[in-house]
Amino acid sequence: MKIILASNNAHKAREIEKLLPEGVVIETLKEVGYTKPIIEDADTFEGNALIKARAIYAEFGRPCLADDSGLEVDCLGGAPGVFSARYSGEGATDEKNNAKLLEEIKDKTDLSARFRTVLAFIDADGNEHLFEGKVEGSLTRVPRGNEGFGYDPLFCPVEHPDKTFAELTLEQKNEISHRARAIKAMNGWLLQ
Ligand code: IMP
Repeated sequence: MKIILASNNAHKAREIEKLLPEGVVIETLKEVGYTKPIIEDADTFEGNALIKARAIYAEFGRPCLADDSGLEVDCLGGAPGVFSARYSGEGATDEKNNAKLLEEIKDKTDLSARFRTVLAFIDADGNEHLFEGKVEGSLTRVPRGNEGFGYDPLFCPVEHPDKTFAELTLEQKNEISHRARAIKAMNGWLLQ
């Protein structure tokens, strides 16, 4: 089966590719020539994943997959959440987002947090399916590690409490990550 992935994030596409069942081929938006902007303006991960998947399905009418993920920090009421990518505002970068997060938590004591992913998969017949994955952990006060992307240097998963996601190999991250868990849930359905 060929699935169009509604993403341009190369890190993410690589992570997802490694986790799908054999025989499932991923095509990126670049590969299918989709260049229109998609406005992700829902206030939930579910809503944003569906917006992306529906836009691609409307164009191609083929199986497509979209994910929406983010970091939820308990002492910040779940922020940055759906705003994870643009937490530091216009022109946000991973570095600026991490700097803003460190500033927001500097006087907080509870540093518990989680990454959450929702996958929206639309099958060949246009039926919509949602799958979720999350990984619990806590934030560090100093960024560590060079792997991964986004908030990885600030997040220690409960499975490796002394390491940030950015200090794990891609294989180690894929064993426990929010995205991996959501994909495993989807694989269970795909392989039925
Ligand atoms: P997306 O919806 O998967 O593009 O994720 C939105 C934002 O959440 C990203 O731009 C990152 O800032 C953050 N994020 C999502 N997944 C991860 C991850 O695995 N590691 C670090 N940051 C992530």
